[in-house]
Amino acid sequence: MSFPIVLTFLALILVFFLVPGLFISRRLRVSFSLTNIVRFIKIATSKYDDEEERNEKGSTMGEKVKRERHKMPKHVAVILDGNRHWAEKRGLGTSDGHEAGAKRLIENAKDCFAMGTNTISLFAFSTENWERPEDEVNCLMALFETNFKSEMPYFQREKIKISVIGNRSKISESLLSLIGEVEEATKSYEGKHIIIAIDYSGRFDILQACKSLAKKAKDGLIEVEDINEKAMEKELMTKCSEFPNPDLLIRTSGEQRISNFFLWQSAYSELYFPNVLWPDFGEAEYLEALTWYQQRQRRFGRRV
Ligand SMILES: *[C@@H]1O[C@H](CO)[C@@H](O)[C@H](O)[C@H]1NC(C)=O
Repeated sequence: MSFPIVLTFLALILVFFLVPGLFISRRLRVSFSLTNIVRFIKIATSKYDDEEERNEKGSTMGEKVKRERHKMPKHVAVILDGNRHWAEKRGLGTSDGHEAGAKRLIENAKDCFAMGTNTISLFAFSTENWERPEDEVNCLMALFETNFKSEMPYFQREKIKISVIGNRSKISESLLSLIGEVEEATKSYEGKHIIIAIDYSGRFDILQACKSLAKKAKDGLIEVEDINEKAMEKELMTKCSEFPNPDLLIRTSGEQRISNFFLWQSAYSELYFPNVLWPDFGEAEYLEALTWYQQRQRRFGRRV
């Protein structure tokens, strides 16, 4: 190749790849990588069928998502999946994967609230997780403790209410008292709410709600005829939230199962299954999820 051809080639790369790439990465505040650029181009060139969106063509994904604030999910539920696989792929230990996952969680919560979501619920530890190797269970429990401690100032500064739901009977004394402290310190905050599901299962939740209703009926506090969806929602553990039913449920790492998370609550949720491991699910991926969600809302209109 002669010198001018090489120069022309370099100039073309600069004009068509680097400059727009840097521009996009600055506008979206995401890292400058090939994946992010390809992702952006895919979204920017996807066809829209409605007038409003045609007018918006040319604006960046982040701007568009934010402009449609009224179409933002009020409650986002996340099944955190892929920490172990993420660590394996890097030749790291399982605990490194969970640590990366916990870090990701805090970062994503910030983005999520900044974009207008009120409630984030996290399926952090399922009842089935007790069957994992003892080392891993201990590591996860230690991570809960460390993060509750280290993030307490953040929760208070940002006025984020924290609630923990699930079966508490197997949780250690030290973690329990920490949970009590965090819940007590943040209980009056409104507007931002994180629900952490530890030893939670959807069936367990429905069962405990049924038991409570049955007891109330037996004690003559309510009539059987009073038992309806509203009464049920007042007994489910998500009663702690202003928005108990998630609008958007995300499960990372490509698995397409609810795995006994919110069974009652996700009856009308949009289900999103990105093929990304949880520690890799960053702001760009979250924007993609929101774009998908807003398009779903547009197509199906108001749901029942
Ligand atoms: C909560 O966990 C304890 C300990 O494993 C168990 O005995 C109990 O049945 C659980 N509660 C429910 C309602 O599942």
